[in-house]
Amino acid sequence: MEILRVIQKSFGVLLLFTSTFAHDLSNSTAPYIFNELYSLLIHWPNNFHPNGHTIVPGILEPYTLLYHARKDTANPPPSPEWLAFDPEMSYAVMATKIPGPTYMYTYRTTRPAKILYFNGMSAAWGEGWLDTQYTVITGMGKTNGSRNNDVSLWDDYGRAKGLCEWGQHRGFEGIVRMNAGFEVIWCDFDSSSLRFVSSLNITPPGTPEARRSFPFPHNAIQHTGYRDSAEELPLRPPDRGPGRDRRPGGGGDPGRHGPWGMITAPLAHSGFLEWMRAATRYKSTTQPHISLYTHQMVSFYHPRYHSLYPSRSGKLMQEHFIWEHVSDEDVCVFLEELDSVVRADLQGTGFDWQAAALDVVAFWSDRIAQMQNLLEGVNRTSNLTQVVTAVQRLSYSPLDPFIAYGEALNASGHDIFFKLRSSPSLLDGTIAPNTTAFERCTYSSTEFLVDPELQALMTPQERVLLMSMETVLERLCTDFGILLAESTDATDSDSFSILVSAWHDRMTSLMGWLEWSSWLRCEELCDLDSVCSMPAWPITWGGGAPGTPGRDNPNIDFLKPTCRKLNMW
Ligand SMILES: *[C@@H]1O[C@H](CO)[C@@H](O)[C@H](O)[C@H]1NC(C)=O
Ligand SMILES: *[C@@H]1O[C@H](CO)[C@@H](O)[C@H](O)[C@H]1NC(C)=O
Ligand SMILES: *[C@@H]1O[C@H](CO)[C@@H](O)[C@H](O)[C@H]1NC(C)=O
Ligand SMILES: *[C@@H]1O[C@H](CO)[C@@H](O)[C@H](O)[C@H]1NC(C)=O
Ligand SMILES: *[C@@H]1O[C@H](CO)[C@@H](O)[C@H](O)[C@H]1NC(C)=O
Ligand SMILES: *[C@@H]1O[C@H](CO)[C@@H](O)[C@H](O)[C@H]1NC(C)=O
Repeated sequence: MEILRVIQKSFGVLLLFTSTFAHDLSNSTAPYIFNELYSLLIHWPNNFHPNGHTIVPGILEPYTLLYHARKDTANPPPSPEWLAFDPEMSYAVMATKIPGPTYMYTYRTTRPAKILYFNGMSAAWGEGWLDTQYTVITGMGKTNGSRNNDVSLWDDYGRAKGLCEWGQHRGFEGIVRMNAGFEVIWCDFDSSSLRFVSSLNITPPGTPEARRSFPFPHNAIQHTGYRDSAEELPLRPPDRGPGRDRRPGGGGDPGRHGPWGMITAPLAHSGFLEWMRAATRYKSTTQPHISLYTHQMVSFYHPRYHSLYPSRSGKLMQEHFIWEHVSDEDVCVFLEELDSVVRADLQGTGFDWQAAALDVVAFWSDRIAQMQNLLEGVNRTSNLTQVVTAVQRLSYSPLDPFIAYGEALNASGHDIFFKLRSSPSLLDGTIAPNTTAFERCTYSSTEFLVDPELQALMTPQERVLLMSMETVLERLCTDFGILLAESTDATDSDSFSILVSAWHDRMTSLMGWLEWSSWLRCEELCDLDSVCSMPAWPITWGGGAPGTPGRDNPNIDFLKPTCRKLNMW
């Protein structure tokens, strides 16, 4: 009898679930697009989801300081070359591991410079991380019949040239990417958008002399510090990054022996640790010197790219590999979209989509984690009455702005959220259409965009973001609405344990669907001589560590942030 009631209840929930989701969310790319949107220019989400599928045009702000370290005094350097936002990055790359003198060049932008931004850990050498760039450079997918585009991880200058070639024709001055720091591939050092500030011989005392000269441009030393063929450095790119430490989750030790195991000048010993410090600055805030045109965001997560369906079906975002799956046709459509976006340069609605996505994450993220933690902790000794009450309060709080309880104090939890319609009064005296609390919740970020004037301004790229935002909110509002409805309407304490277990499943499924990096944190408070750091290539990424997620190994525990010491004794 009791079991039957519970089954009926679950069945009701099931019906509700399918009837409130207008589309099949299990096959939706909305959560991926949402992740790409909220992660733009932020470190941790891009460490967590390194296989960026997204390109966004934008500008590098005027008067931004940029750094470039090199082993010779060529001024201007041959183009293209790399500029870092953090001097620690330039220093670590050139002064700590490579013999011979180091010169630090400082630049400042003179005006807004158009840049093209690649999301993900896009400046790192790893399988999947460079895939979007490969499509831009080659204009096709990796394989087609017997063709197999051979792409060398080593060929950073080749990539830089290819990307600049695509971008310069379209007015871009640089390509912005991320590894353990943000960097710009600057396409033309003769451009008046960049003012040379200074160059200084910063070689730390005790730096070994170069055993042979380091010719520039380009063919010997990569900006990352690797070289193709030199006795001082390893000859082969590491499989997933230059880390030597193969402890699971240990990451490469960025200290004395550095990722390359080279002995450095005594003063430069902490160079890589200081880079790690810099890398944690923007772990959850955007790099502040770049403005992106999110209304022009182009993504391989657009649902129309059918060739990519197998690349993500049943997989974590860390396992989504574009390059080997994408058809030439889909690459062509993607590049045509990017090209037309750049050429048309539409202004869009002016809505700050990333801010809206970050608002959603900020509003929901810790509540979801708290709810999951609460439900996970339930055991045979728990007082289920208290658990149900806690679930009711915790699910009610994010929904309360949308619930017109004052109009129906006696309504059931289900009716008040999913069924009863009410019309919020508007200040200008007009009457808003009757909506349910569920609808008000789902459209809370985007309802204003129904305005015909804004509809006319909306770019096709914004429509994709709109779909993604509303789908993500629809799922959040549904899942929390069901928890609220069931916890409010549950009267029979015999049903509590089945409900609690179903809620736990629901939260687990929600978190798996969202894949937010916002749940990452160091479990302990880091000491003042430490930073809370995620594995980030190349400084703290244990190359080929058993826990490295990605192909054949979806062990995302590897990516957990930990406190890492900034000193070396
Ligand atoms: C999901 O999308 C793919 C590609 O569009 C399609 O082939 C597949 O049938 C869809 N699956 C479901 C369950 O809708
Ligand atoms: C392979 O190349 C041919 C000829 O360029 C093209 O028509 C076809 O669409 C390509 N197939 C895939 C799967 O990319
Ligand atoms: C049950 O949960 C409580 C509180 O979360 C905890 O203190 C207790 O040790 C748990 N008991 C068992 C048997 O796991
Ligand atoms: C469980 O919690 C409720 C509400 O706090 C309380 O009234 C009830 O006595 C508790 N039950 C037990 C067995 O402790
Ligand atoms: C709610 O229900 C109670 C008890 O049935 C009743 O006395 C009260 O008038 C109802 N309140 C409203 C606002 O309908
Ligand atoms: C909204 O619903 C209420 C209650 O059903 C009804 O009284 C009101 O006329 C409706 N308003 C509109 C604009 O449909």
